[in-house]
Amino acid sequence: MIGPHLLSIADLGHDGIVQVLNVAESFAEVEKRTMKKVPALKGKVIATMFFEESTRTRLSFETAAKRLSADVLSLSVATSSVKKGESLKDTLKTIEALGIDAVIIRHRSSGAPLQAARFLDDIHVVNAGDGWHEHPSQGLLDAFTVRQAWAAAAGVDPATTGSSLFQGKKIVIVGDIAHSRVARSEVLAYTALGAEVTLVAPATLLPPSVEGWGVTVAHRLDPVLADADLISVLRLQAERGSGECVPSLREFTETFGMTEARAERLKDGALITHPGPMVRGVEIASAVADDPRCLVTTQVHNGVAVRMAALYLLLTGGNAVLDHSEANRDA
Ligand code: CP
Repeated sequence: MIGPHLLSIADLGHDGIVQVLNVAESFAEVEKRTMKKVPALKGKVIATMFFEESTRTRLSFETAAKRLSADVLSLSVATSSVKKGESLKDTLKTIEALGIDAVIIRHRSSGAPLQAARFLDDIHVVNAGDGWHEHPSQGLLDAFTVRQAWAAAAGVDPATTGSSLFQGKKIVIVGDIAHSRVARSEVLAYTALGAEVTLVAPATLLPPSVEGWGVTVAHRLDPVLADADLISVLRLQAERGSGECVPSLREFTETFGMTEARAERLKDGALITHPGPMVRGVEIASAVADDPRCLVTTQVHNGVAVRMAALYLLLTGGNAVLDHSEANRDA
């Protein structure tokens, strides 16, 4: 169902998303063991190529690949031949000639991972965030995290719930939607799973059109707060020019920030997510970021299991050995 590449949540559809979330539940169990490794990708080589900064995604993918027993190579773009003018195509062809099985790419240009997939014949390509376009593994880990939280609240096993816990849920995504690849991946994931999504932003921080997105749009946060089951808070993407789109940071915080006063007005059981990195005091108050309803640290934790699931499904089709005792024997 998943593969050969993970470029967009749209590659997965409803069933593919649920498949990744369910396999991730198995890997989340593995993470609780003393030996956190499985032999599923033993003998495979995975390269990370980050042409843009990252803390969470890079560490998370590299941890995931190592827990699957893959060998991991990390291209340092700043000290690579990219700096001598080598093209993306030639860099990728070099990776291909080395016999690497999968490449995980972050790039400031939307569409770079798709282009990479076109350049490469036998290598799986994973989009780790491309420009304003998409960040599919983030959308998956966010869906995984909220499904787990809703399942725990309902006293059920998340792996048995499919997408049922998303049906009718009201999800608000607030902040810099225009420049956010996370917003696009979350919209695709949450709407595919059956949630009702509302985007909240000033007109200057919305895409020119959201036709076909299956969402509603609001320009004020306060009227939609009380009904929301989940608030996904997004950072102003200053590196993509968001500073030009708001009169001042103070005004953005007053109008669209997840302040302590707004957190108090959320209904019982409502959750807050943030993909990170957070800018405390701007899009989210520091006290709200540390509130137990805010799942930001859980999201980072869950990212490893979700990325293990994505890599496992991409590289093996779900047919490799997962038995933990075998990992002990072969390690
Ligand atoms: N959420 C996210 O993509 O974080 P990084 O930029 O630190 O990878």
